[in-house]
Amino acid sequence: MADDRHGTSPDCTWFENWFDSKYYHILYGNRDQAEAELFMNNLIRFLKVPSGARIHDLCCGKGRHSVFLSSKGFEVTGTDLSEASIRFAKQFENESLNFYISDMRTTIRINYFDFVFNLFTSFGYFASDREHEEVVRAVHSSLRPGGIFVLDYLNTSKVKKQLTGTMFKEAEGIRFEINKSLENGYINKKISFSDKGKQYAFQERVRAYTKGELEKALLKNGFEALQFKGNYMLDEFDEEKSDRLIIIGKKKSLSDSRLNPKSE
Ligand SMILES: C[S@@+](CC[C@H](N)C(=O)[O-])C[C@H]1O[C@@H](n2cnc3c(N)ncnc32)[C@H](O)[C@@H]1O
Repeated sequence: MADDRHGTSPDCTWFENWFDSKYYHILYGNRDQAEAELFMNNLIRFLKVPSGARIHDLCCGKGRHSVFLSSKGFEVTGTDLSEASIRFAKQFENESLNFYISDMRTTIRINYFDFVFNLFTSFGYFASDREHEEVVRAVHSSLRPGGIFVLDYLNTSKVKKQLTGTMFKEAEGIRFEINKSLENGYINKKISFSDKGKQYAFQERVRAYTKGELEKALLKNGFEALQFKGNYMLDEFDEEKSDRLIIIGKKKSLSDSRLNPKSE
């Protein structure tokens, strides 16, 4: 990936405010728990996750996947930048389930986790590809050799074809106006509304990475044996039809996991 800054929006740290605001949770309501559990069950089966495995739920939100994984007997760590979400998730903590506030660009443990899951489009938020690669490298450091990274991302090819312009959504008495567009290599969502007489504007920006670009970033940063799935049933990825792009990669063993500068 090039080291350019994309999407020259003035608000490069939009994710710090939006995900921590009460309006984010009002707009999206309770995330789909049944879907989260179906996906986790399929993943556990597909990856043959052994009992007691150490799993990092990177960008865990309020912990819907972490809590379920913990109930299955795994040692789970959930991290997220949103203080409000981690405060909420902490009520579910137990001996083998812990939540921490942390930025996804940092490594919380070295050579420790058997699996790192980054779920439900919790990637691609930064203003530069360099920062996105920092995330991949942080995941790589935190996995033990042979550990597995699962990146659950948008199928941007399909999303790009479905950009609908303006739409409205009503939730808890608030009328949200949502504008989706493709700008400078990002899928941009502008969200505006008023509440108690005050006008608000937020945005979501996700880098419109293609499968090829993400594949290159993972291979360049020490992952191998990549597999590409297209939905939570883990059917094979199809660029035209799939709703999701789920990439599963293995951390190379110690001898060959060094970054290869010639692999540009
Ligand atoms: C789309 S939500 C998904 C949350 C969760 N994985 C789920 O499926 O419910 C994205 C999450 O990423 C978190 N996030 C955003 N930027 C972050 C960062 N720089 N470091 C860590 N977490 C971040 C947000 O706070 C939010 O909880």
